[in-house]
Amino acid sequence: MAHSCGRESRRRGLHGQRWLPIFMPDALSQKGELMPRWTPDDIRWDRFDRDKLDPDLLRLVKAAALTEFNAARYTQYLNNVFSDDEEIAQSVSLWQLEEEQHGRSLGRYAELADPDFDFAAAFRLFQEGYVIPVDVTQSVRGSRVGELLARCVVEAGTSSFYSAMGEATGEPVLQQICKQIAADEFRHYRLFLDGLKKYQSRENVSLAARIRVAVGRVLEADDDELAFAYHCGNEPESPYDRGRCNAAYGSRAYRLYGYHHAERAVAMIFKASGLKPQGWLARQTSRWAWRRIQARALGAPT
Ligand SMILES: [Fe+2]
Ligand SMILES: [Fe+2]
Repeated sequence: MAHSCGRESRRRGLHGQRWLPIFMPDALSQKGELMPRWTPDDIRWDRFDRDKLDPDLLRLVKAAALTEFNAARYTQYLNNVFSDDEEIAQSVSLWQLEEEQHGRSLGRYAELADPDFDFAAAFRLFQEGYVIPVDVTQSVRGSRVGELLARCVVEAGTSSFYSAMGEATGEPVLQQICKQIAADEFRHYRLFLDGLKKYQSRENVSLAARIRVAVGRVLEADDDELAFAYHCGNEPESPYDRGRCNAAYGSRAYRLYGYHHAERAVAMIFKASGLKPQGWLARQTSRWAWRRIQARALGAPT
């Protein structure tokens, strides 16, 4: 997912050196233009099996399509924060193309599975109601390291989410889409992690400050973005109720996860934060995360 810049985001107010080489050489077309590694034409849409369609997963797909397709606005923010870094600007451009492609593919899937779903109309509603501030020149995380760390947390979350959904579904087209997207999200994590290392050698942000950013970004997973996307994608005719939509989204999303997904996401976030990804603290945190995931799957407050 592309996903917001976090807690600073508010609906109707506020609501990501071996940098470029991560994407190369596959990311260049024959004309030398940046391009994603796969396109919707690579998806075997003809294999769609309605009998294996899970309506709960379709609801998640509709919400995810909207947040993914909203990447362009967030790219503006990142380009402002890294305005003097041409390497990052190029990488973010390709990142945007890939995130938008995630949105387009998920939107197409949702329209295939539900002919009444209008992706363009749902996205208009989402974009009108969920505004990301882009007129900033510094990261809301206090440093470029903090910004890149927050992006790593998001990509750890999205790679886990698509891995979990791909394993949970028996529908072959959704399986293929999730596999492609999850691979992109893992690569995005590596991309931002490499940028983080580059800037950490310059900014030398303390471990405590990095942990604060990571924990803060994890807690923002419950902010308005996914709940509002769930509303726009699934029940636009009803009044928006953030608490109910947040619970409706969470109970469907978190039940997809297995312990191994929680464990891997924690390891990725620990690594980006500068903590041991396989140590005692990581194991304890994985257990805490797993309990939290199970509680959200049951719809319980956490
Ligand atoms: Fe994505
Ligand atoms: Fe991503």
